[in-house]
Parts: sequence; C-alpha cells; structure tokens
Amino acid sequence: MSRNYQYEVMEEIKKRWSPRAFDPNKPLVDEDIYPLIEAANLAPSAFNSQPRRFIVAADPEKRQKVFDALFEGNQLWTKLVPAFIVILVKAEDDEGRKSRWTEFDTGTSFGLLSLEAVRRGLHTHAMAGFSPDKIKQNFELADGLEPIAVVAVGYYGDKRDLPEKYQAMEQPNSRLALSDIIVE
Ligand SMILES: Cc1cc2nc3c(=O)[nH]c(=O)nc-3n(C[C@H](O)[C@H](O)[C@H](O)COP(=O)(O)O)c2cc1C
Repeated sequence: MSRNYQYEVMEEIKKRWSPRAFDPNKPLVDEDIYPLIEAANLAPSAFNSQPRRFIVAADPEKRQKVFDALFEGNQLWTKLVPAFIVILVKAEDDEGRKSRWTEFDTGTSFGLLSLEAVRRGLHTHAMAGFSPDKIKQNFELADGLEPIAVVAVGYYGDKRDLPEKYQAMEQPNSRLALSDIIVE
C-alpha cells in the first residue's frame, strides 16, 4: 500500500511510518538518541511549560526494564528492537499548577522526535500497549511523572524476522482524505 498526497510536504513526513522490523545488529547509543530528544525539546508547548520527559533505554539493562513493561502483543514484535524511549508527562509544573495541554504538548514533541529520526535514517514506532505502573516501578519514577508512550527506535531490519501475522502489516497504512478531516 502506498500513501497518497494531495499536496507536497517535507520528505521526512512522507517517509515516516511505524515499522515493526528493527535491525538488532545496529545497536544505538545515547549519542544516536539524544539528537532525537533535542528535536522533541524544541517542540512548542502551552505557556512554554515543556511538560515532557524522556527515559532513554538503549543499554541492555534499561532496555529490559522497558521490554518487561510492554503488553504481550507488543513484546511479540519488539524482541529485536535495539532501544526504547519512554515518554513521560509531567502533570503539574513546579508550582503545582496543572495545564489542560500537557498531553497535547507531549504528543507534539513525539512528532518532532519521529521526524528527526527519519532524517537520520532511523525509524520509530510508538506504543500505548504497556503498563505505566511497571515502568514507574522498574525505573523508580518520581511522583508526578506519568508514562504516556513507549517508542521503539532503531534502523530498519528484515521483516522475515517478525512473527508471520506482523509481516503482512509491514507497510505504511492509509489515511483519511483531507475532505474527511477538514471540518466545514
Ligand atoms: C499514542 C500511540 C500509541 C500506539 N500504540 C501502539 C501499540 O501499542 N502497538 C502497536 O503496534 N502500534 C501502536 N501505535 C502505532 C499506530 O498503530 C500507528 O502509528 C498508526 O497505525 C499509523 O501508522 P504509521 O505510524 O505507520 O503512519 C501507536 C501509535 C501512537 C501514536
């Protein structure tokens, strides 16, 4: 399946999709991942509150702590993923003020992170299928930090290494037409 575009957009936006086949032979180090966090950190946020936080899990011990928190459906395809980024939301600022837009702001930062990854030849795949409580336990997170997504990061691998049911899904999926999402 290929995606159709009515208008021309940035190459990175066109190339981004969420694969499941990652290359286990190309491990990532912090220096590969920190530029992605840099991109995330440059995202806008309401009142510049910057409510997003990140755990970089590229070494085997941290990677395992994230893997153990994933739901089974995601563990099935993430065995070979070299690194994870856990995205956390800081629900209140240092003065205890809540914002309605913390999750909006945090999602925006993932958008930029995923595009910087593409620019560097990497892929990302966000996941909601994990236990936030297990992440909190495994990383002894401070109160007020809520895990909102886990992101698989790495270079593209070989889809034949995936369980069969995922091999068929290993292609960019479709989108609604602009006429379906622009509300008149
Ligand atoms: C917040 C969020 C949660 C997601 N959770 C999962 C998940 O638990 N497992 C999974 O395989 N994909 C997950 N996805 C990936 C989506 O299914 C995928 O982004 C969507 O189908 C669009 O495909 P694309 O990213 O290839 O364009 C998630 C994506 C987002 C943004």
